[in-house]
Amino acid sequence: MKRIGIMTTGGDCSGLNTVTERVVTGAMRRGWTVIGIMDGTDGLCTTPPRTIEFTPDTLPIECARLAGSYLHNGHAGALNYETAAESGRLDEFNKKIRQSLRALKLDALILVGGNGSLSLAWENRDIYSDVALVCIPKTIDMDVPLTDNTIGFDTAVEQIVSFCDQLILTARSHHRYFVVQTMGRDCGNLALNAGVAFGADAILIPEIKFDIDELVYHIQEQHRDYGIILVAEGVKIRGHSGRPADIISRKLTVAGVINRTAYPEHIQRAGDTVASDRILATSMANTALNAIDNNETFVMTAYQDGQCRTVALSEFFAAGELAADPKISGMRTSNAYVSPDNPLLDVAYNMGIYIGCES
Ligand code: F6P
Repeated sequence: MKRIGIMTTGGDCSGLNTVTERVVTGAMRRGWTVIGIMDGTDGLCTTPPRTIEFTPDTLPIECARLAGSYLHNGHAGALNYETAAESGRLDEFNKKIRQSLRALKLDALILVGGNGSLSLAWENRDIYSDVALVCIPKTIDMDVPLTDNTIGFDTAVEQIVSFCDQLILTARSHHRYFVVQTMGRDCGNLALNAGVAFGADAILIPEIKFDIDELVYHIQEQHRDYGIILVAEGVKIRGHSGRPADIISRKLTVAGVINRTAYPEHIQRAGDTVASDRILATSMANTALNAIDNNETFVMTAYQDGQCRTVALSEFFAAGELAADPKISGMRTSNAYVSPDNPLLDVAYNMGIYIGCES
């Protein structure tokens, strides 16, 4: 009989309720108790910690498809890594989490988080030394090293594609283009996958340089006078600040390409969880529970070559490109990007999608 905790941290995405519901279902079949920690680490920073004990009815099956997280993902103003670091209270914060985990008497903790949360967990691993820590990667950005997919990504791609499906109808009526800016932080995976799925005219991602004249030429050479240009939010344009879609839109206007911008924004993190994300969430929940059964700790579930397994958090951290945490000084995050040999780049290129300069 084990007593395990689960929390969802960082930005939300679709699939968090599926993975929570599957963890609860799988754990209860084993006769375990599941404690839900509310608002991620925020919930561990109050006295007593804010938790719920799951019963079979807490998160019913019909809610497993819904976006958002039943457990919440945290308050911006609460004591958390960011606010603690800003106010010089990091030691107090770390101590509080460790105390709360002890008080909850958990055998294991499942942390469902993105690369930021997973990196923080590894960099501050002492906090979790009293429990077995098993992480499950979720993010619409798909920027977590060592896994071929993350919970929430497929649904976000679906959301962007349906957004473009709607826009293209009005684009056609007015003979114009839409410059659509996707999320993804510094990683182009979301824009690349959505752009290929939709059949965008151009996909601009941070990993590949592009040239505005080439883009204009490409658009003007199209057999249509309407379409979609997808721009990842991480794209930087030398000499300009502001949203990349706005900058590109202005440049296209100057070149005579009639266009508008459109921002799907947080709708990318919503939407009923698509089946492939639910399968991934179920497989990852199963792998996490097996890992707890096998007394593994400091591991992450990873989807590799069509299978779910665990990898050491140390490997996840070592495998990525390390960068200073954008919000917490002294911390580093481990990041994955679109690699130059990503087969979708070739697919896009061969389909006549402009994806940037060839060299
Ligand atoms: O990491 C997930 C993500 O949705 C990014 O794609 C985006 O840049 C960011 O979070 C938005 O965060 P917020 O909801 O705080 O604006």
